[in-house]
Amino acid sequence: MGFFSRGNGDGVSEELVWQALATVREPELGGDLVSRKMIKNLKVEGGRVRFTVELTTPACPLKDQIQAECEAALGKIAGVPREHIEIEFGATVRPRGGILEKAAIPGVSHVIAVAAGKGGVGKSTVAVNIAVALAQEGAQVGLLDADVYGPSVPQMMGVKGQQPAAIATPDGQPRMIPIEAHGIKMMSIGFLIGDSQPVIWRGPMVSQLLRQFLYNVDWAPLDYLIIDMPPGTGDIALTLAQSLQNVGLTGVVTVTTPQQVATLDVLKSMEMFKKVNVPLLGIIENMAYFVAPDTGKRYDIFGSGGAAQLAEQVGVPLLGQIPLGIRVREDGDAGQPAVIDAAPDAYAETFREVARRLAARVSVMEYA
Ligand SMILES: Nc1ncnc2c1ncn2[C@@H]1O[C@H](COP(=O)(O)OP(=O)(O)OP(=O)(O)O)[C@@H](O)[C@H]1O
Ligand SMILES: [Mg+2]
Repeated sequence: MGFFSRGNGDGVSEELVWQALATVREPELGGDLVSRKMIKNLKVEGGRVRFTVELTTPACPLKDQIQAECEAALGKIAGVPREHIEIEFGATVRPRGGILEKAAIPGVSHVIAVAAGKGGVGKSTVAVNIAVALAQEGAQVGLLDADVYGPSVPQMMGVKGQQPAAIATPDGQPRMIPIEAHGIKMMSIGFLIGDSQPVIWRGPMVSQLLRQFLYNVDWAPLDYLIIDMPPGTGDIALTLAQSLQNVGLTGVVTVTTPQQVATLDVLKSMEMFKKVNVPLLGIIENMAYFVAPDTGKRYDIFGSGGAAQLAEQVGVPLLGQIPLGIRVREDGDAGQPAVIDAAPDAYAETFREVARRLAARVSVMEYA
């Protein structure tokens, strides 16, 4: 760019292309693509324009919109026809800055906790599928099962019974190698203790275990580390929330069913995180409704509209509604996350939409 930009024989100068792209707004973060330094590798040759749009997340839900607006601007301002434009999308998930940086996990950009006021609302199902969905979008993802009462990640990811290897590091600290499946890295207490072993956990023990899982596991490099939290608002949940605050937690996503919204547990859980200064990223309504596969009729089994209302009341976005699907449950039991299943009632696309909205929300919270 600048005074000396070359013409190229076809009347399209780099200058004009930059001017056109500077009129395209980043739909969520605000500002234009050029001043946000999102345009990379621009090449103008023989009337053809090629460049990369560097997003803040590979799971950006607005790629299509950005592409369409770039094409429109280049057509209008620089006279480049659509078929001469080639846009690639890249993503650098930048780590959050600020005072928390020194406490953060090296090489891990964002830590996102998935929590619920109560057990059994589908927290693990949502955590697993969102993690795999983000990986499908091209992000590097880890999933930490912090639910010491009922670790279900090994079962849902089809890696039950596997044991993480440990390596010695130069500083003499042993590090665990996370188990990998379906494109993501995982760690769970379920890998370390047997199924039938009863463990009585107290708050400080859980905190210490979580620290080890965060710092003594070979996670890096990760764009997102998703944490499946234990349910509830009691002692352990509070201790965990507090210890997470110190690792530069990006925020917490609350999973609820329409029915649970009516109880106070969800609010209590969100207030607990707020109290220890963990940002609320949004609410995901799970088991939102059921569509009968044979008739296509919709049933609001647990009521409807509750999560949207709650989101408005608390001032956080409703990131999505996931219906009840027989396949969702079957896939979880079979160790094949629903998001890799093409059956309609696995709701893979719904999980992916929720994951994209979450990624966008993280970008907005941290870069806007
Ligand atoms: N959208 C859904 N459709 C159908 N079944 C679902 C859905 N979400 C979760 N389930 C099923 O409901 C059960 C509970 O889900 P899950 O284990 O994810 O909940 P949880 O909140 O993590 O529970 P816990 O408190 O025990 O950790 C599982 O059998 C799961 O397969
Ligand atoms: Mg669970």
